[in-house]
Amino acid sequence: MSPITAAAIDETTADQTRLRASVSHSQRLLARFRQVRDFTTHLCEELEPEDCVVQSMPDVSPTKWHLAHTTWFFETFVLKKWTPRYRPEIPQYAYLFNSYYNAAGDMHRRDLRGLISRPTVEETHRYRSSIDSYIDNLLSGADEKLLAEIEPIITLGINHEQQHQELLLTDIKHVLAQNPLYPVFRERKGDLETSKVSPQDFVEFEETTVQIGHDGNGFSYDNEGPRHPALVPHFSLASRVVTNGEYLEFMEAGGYTRPEFWLSLGWTTVNEQRWQAPLYWMKRDGAWWNLTLSGFRSVEESEPVTHVSYFEADAFANWSGARLPTEFEWEHAATDLSIEGNFVESEQFHPQASSASAHDRHLDQMFGDVWEWTRSGYAPYPGYRAAPGALGEYNGKFMCNQYVLRGGSCATSCTHIRQTYRNFFPPEKRWQFTGIRLAHDPS
Ligand SMILES: [Fe+2]
Repeated sequence: MSPITAAAIDETTADQTRLRASVSHSQRLLARFRQVRDFTTHLCEELEPEDCVVQSMPDVSPTKWHLAHTTWFFETFVLKKWTPRYRPEIPQYAYLFNSYYNAAGDMHRRDLRGLISRPTVEETHRYRSSIDSYIDNLLSGADEKLLAEIEPIITLGINHEQQHQELLLTDIKHVLAQNPLYPVFRERKGDLETSKVSPQDFVEFEETTVQIGHDGNGFSYDNEGPRHPALVPHFSLASRVVTNGEYLEFMEAGGYTRPEFWLSLGWTTVNEQRWQAPLYWMKRDGAWWNLTLSGFRSVEESEPVTHVSYFEADAFANWSGARLPTEFEWEHAATDLSIEGNFVESEQFHPQASSASAHDRHLDQMFGDVWEWTRSGYAPYPGYRAAPGALGEYNGKFMCNQYVLRGGSCATSCTHIRQTYRNFFPPEKRWQFTGIRLAHDPS
């Protein structure tokens, strides 16, 4: 038997320390994975199977598809690569639940997702559980080297899941809105408080050159970089988002019938779609009502206006004698703000009225409540290149004909949003929780 030396003891202690570190590292990642996956399941708890299969328009995916597609993401980009001898139980799911990753193979047509009755909702939950236990095993047995390789992809999958939680909510809202019985997704917590919000204040920002984009600390999407300098001229930004009451004034002033406020494409859209109000608004006995995830109720004037397109946001800003902020102005204004607001964790599933007082003179509702349309087209930052392979298709290929939105909504997780986060949608889309914050040039 060889003698036990001090060096050997040191070596063993160092090995044990490394092992403990990698175990706690993988446990932390696994805990995060489980927490986010479980929250998706929690969001669906009060839905019936019949709710989960409807596709109410091509933009909307059935709840069941979201449950399966987020699972497919982990199966395709983690298990198939890093779990030796992994064989998919049902290989055809790869075709059914791939969304838009051409490099990952062929895919089913997006607009036909609502025609897929099998797998059933129950089978889809079984698929989720099965993939979750494979990920569980993979992470539980991962050493530091494997962990270093898979952590970025698992983290991307977790963030991807959170994006789909938001889509799941906005999609089920659209589905339930088609039903004249207006089913309730989740009963409202507490009574609706009719409050009066303070008038909008405008916070001034001097001209400056700022660093735009993510600094590389922690997770971000590739579209948030490279970080680069940008000149932001003197501007002012509204202290809160636009309310239903303010938007009603625009409507009552003939906002939807006066072309002078609208972009040409916006005016065409208003007329073709016969828009007269935000999505989910209906007039009953001379009063405006709206559909929320907690049911049909009268429009509360103090709440932020939501479900408006870029075209409506821009027209409202023109009518107000203001404009929408650029994404650089927004990011500059948000740089030092903490991530606080009404997020999906509050389970209100609807934007809430600002409680800031007129004397606060600070920016309220920058995070949560409603995504804020900016006047910035969704384009690559200087030096941006999409990564090669399927995951390079995540963001880059959508940089055309869309506008950037900032700040997150009441359907976004507070652990998913950042000051540098760039969401994007085409200008005519209204089914997300989209709203308006005004900006001004110096007078
Ligand atoms: Fe996706």
